[in-house]
Amino acid sequence: MEIIVARHAGFCFGVKRALDLVREAAASGPVQTIGPLIHNPQVVARLEQEGVRTIADLSQAQGGTVVIPSHGAGADLAERAEAAGLAVLDATCPLVAEAQTHAGRLAQEGYRVVILGDPGHPEVVGLARHAGPQAVVVEDAGAALALPRAERLGLVCQTTQTLDRLRAVASALLEKTAELRVFNTICGATAQRQQSALDVARTVDVVVVVGGRNSANTNRLTQICTDAGVETHHVETPDELDAAWFSAKRRAGVTAGASTPQWLIDGVVEALRRIGEA
Ligand code: F3S
Repeated sequence: MEIIVARHAGFCFGVKRALDLVREAAASGPVQTIGPLIHNPQVVARLEQEGVRTIADLSQAQGGTVVIPSHGAGADLAERAEAAGLAVLDATCPLVAEAQTHAGRLAQEGYRVVILGDPGHPEVVGLARHAGPQAVVVEDAGAALALPRAERLGLVCQTTQTLDRLRAVASALLEKTAELRVFNTICGATAQRQQSALDVARTVDVVVVVGGRNSANTNRLTQICTDAGVETHHVETPDELDAAWFSAKRRAGVTAGASTPQWLIDGVVEALRRIGEA
């Protein structure tokens, strides 16, 4: 069985940066992250072995440094942590921070902010906290069409959305206002991974997507490959692979989300080789 790995797969620069910042801080004192630093349980488990705790909220902090994760947080978190006597390390990806800035400015300038994203995802929750009390989260064009008319609307999106979805929501919002400002806040790393996943999906019989089940961008890759009509399996670790998925398959593709480390991608490729040989 031939194994084809997507050209762009695995860690993006924002995730690498967050890990470097946290490991550097952990070398000189106790560090705890508010929620998982990145959406990959295996990496978070390794960090815990290195002494970096994951806590649910500030009340669980035990002194030292608290880290704002790569997908960001509300505007008030750093202030509350500092008020509690904690040092704050902001590992928010610069591209997420840029989306937060756009959302905040739109709100200040009197636009009702619409956020295209998965409601409940920490990045979207953080974005909404920057976007003022009138902000609303929509998942798709249908939800955008259900919004009431507004004098001025501003649109930003979760960095892991697809351009097709952003286009569809922008077009729906044009029917809801006379003035619409749109910021394309999809990150380049996400777009590259989505395109590479699609390129691979079009040439293979089966695709394995590697990454956290809690990772929005990994789930999006699974969706893209499934929508391309190819059999797709999402795994977090090599031991989840089932040899039956690959019987009578000639070419298998591998792709991975932006929070998936190289060692997990390598492990999956190695396991696929063994399955192919058997
Ligand atoms: Fe940042 Fe994009 Fe990665 S927003 S964390 S570079 S997926």
